[in-house]
This record gives sequence, structure tokens and C-alpha cells, in this order.
Amino acid sequence: MARVQSRTESALQRVLPDTQTLPERLHAAMRYAVLGGGKRVRPLLVHAAGEAASRPLSAAESVRLDIVACSVECIHAYSLAHDDLPCMDDDVLRRGKPTVHVEYDEATALLVGDSLQALAFELLSGEWLTGKQAATDAGTSMELVRILATAIGSRGMAGGQAIDLVSVGKTLTLAELERMHGYKTGALIRASVCMGARAIGEFCGDELAQMDHYARCIGLAFQVVDDILDADSTTATLGKTSGKDAVNNKPTYVNIMGLSRARDFADELRLEAHRHLAGFGGRGKRLGELADFVVLRKF
Ligand code: IPE
Ligand code: IPE
Ligand code: MG
Ligand code: MG
Ligand code: MG
Repeated sequence: MARVQSRTESALQRVLPDTQTLPERLHAAMRYAVLGGGKRVRPLLVHAAGEAASRPLSAAESVRLDIVACSVECIHAYSLAHDDLPCMDDDVLRRGKPTVHVEYDEATALLVGDSLQALAFELLSGEWLTGKQAATDAGTSMELVRILATAIGSRGMAGGQAIDLVSVGKTLTLAELERMHGYKTGALIRASVCMGARAIGEFCGDELAQMDHYARCIGLAFQVVDDILDADSTTATLGKTSGKDAVNNKPTYVNIMGLSRARDFADELRLEAHRHLAGFGGRGKRLGELADFVVLRKF
């Protein structure tokens, strides 16, 4: 994990515009939102999915995965900057630091999100991915753009956030809650796995379908555990204000199932994720470890 986290940090440093480039303040805020924090779960999944391919990767293929990882992490950081805004969850603390709109201002936090979203697609479609170093063909580049766009729009992440906002104060059924979580958080996690695999492309039989089942399980589990930690951990451990879901009256797995059943459910999803990796043998080791990390994490 440390190896991929540090590769990702350097790659993000490189792809984000520097703070001397006009408009300096926006670029400083983008770097503030992205760099020096976060578990980097989505980049870890990109690399683990790519490394589950049927042969060892070349240096160019690893660079390719770095760029894909940067792209999904830019989207994730954008979603956090917007999620924390007063018109959404109204949070002041993120990754142990003031949220983007607190450190800068609300308009800048909006523009940070807009710009990171654009940068994510620039990374997938331009020189970063198609140049000599990453050596990706145009068809693959286009396919990665399509997967990401589908995952984060109104039938994915943004749609899930819309459902989250209209569900405040309501009691959702389990099926409704599962759909909301699948959209707002599961879709980008699923896309990270799918894009890592697609960027490399050496998979046979039903391996891609199995990996997609795995990704659905951990995508849902990720938000179930996020709900559990919000209710059960501390602000100091999380680096974001705990207990906010109850204050904001959000429907969560904790208030629908209770803590103990929510924990059991997350663990069932973890085991189901492992079952879908069975066919990969040793090649699925890192994906399996990440399923454990997603469910057993403390922050
Ligand atoms: C938090 O995501 C927001 C959700 C989608 C639940 P992470 O828990 O991955 O946040 P960082 O990137 O590690 O800060
Ligand atoms: C965040 O869900 C989902 C997205 C950012 C898309 P939460 O609102 O539960 O995430 P945290 O708890 O603020 O990190
Ligand atoms: Mg939210
Ligand atoms: Mg939030
Ligand atoms: Mg949360």
C-alpha cells in the first residue's frame, strides 16, 4: 500500500497545475484539496486491478495506472470538496484540515470541484495517458473516459448525492439505501477497479465479470463502513467530524440496521468480495487485501 500511495502522491504532484500558474489561488486550492491526505483507496484499487492481469506489467503500463489513479482521485477529491459545502453536508473538517470552503471560500470550493473534474478527463484523454510514457491507444483512452463519465453522473455519484439530499429525515427501505450508497460511493469504486483492469486489458474468460462483482461488494461495503465509523469513531481518528450523519438526519445503515447488524453486513460483503476473487489465485491477492482494508479500517 505504501508503495502505491507514494507513487500516487508523486503523480498527483506532477499532474496538478503549480501554484505559480494563473489563477494562482484556484491552483493552490486544488492542490490543497488533493495532496497530502486521504487513504488513496481508489488509486490502490486501480493498481491492484491492473496488477491482477495475467502477466507482469511493463514500466509504461505502471505509468498508465498512475495516470488512471490520478484521474479517479481527482474525481474523489472534487466530490469531497462539494460534499462538504454548506449546501450539502456543511462540514468544516476533512482529512484533519479545514475543508476547502473554510480554508478558501465557497465559490473557490465549487471551482476546485469543477476544475478537478475537468482535469480528470484531461488526464484520460490527453498526452498524460496517450504520450510515450504511458503509451495508451486511443480506443482504450476513450473507453476509460466512458467508464468514468458513466460512474460519476446523474446515474452514478452525482445522482447518489441528489438522492442523499432528498432523503434527509426520511426512513428508506434497505433496497433504497443500498441503491443510494451504490450510486454515491459504490459507482466510483467500481469504476476504479474496472478502469485499472481495462487500462491493462489482459484478462480472460469471466475474470472481468468476477472482478466487477467484487467491486460492487466493496463499493457498497465502503459506504456501510463509512456510516459505521461516523457513528462509532471519533473526530480525532477520522480527521472529519464524527456523529454528523445523526446531526444531519441522514439515512444510514447504522440507523436502519443498528451498529452490530451493520458490522455483520459489511463483513458478509467482504467475504462475498473474496469469493469472486477465487478464480484469480495469487493474482487477486492485493484485491483481497483491499477488501479486508475497506471493511476492517479504523478511519
Ligand atoms: C470518504 O471517502 C467519502 C466517501 C465516499 C465515503 P474516503 O474515506 O475514501 O476519504 P479519504 O480519501 O480517505 O479522505
Ligand atoms: C460522501 O458520503 C459521498 C461522496 C462524497 C460522493 P458522505 O457524506 O458520507 O462522506 P463523508 O462522511 O462526508 O466523508
Ligand atoms: Mg454526503
Ligand atoms: Mg459528507
Ligand atoms: Mg459519511
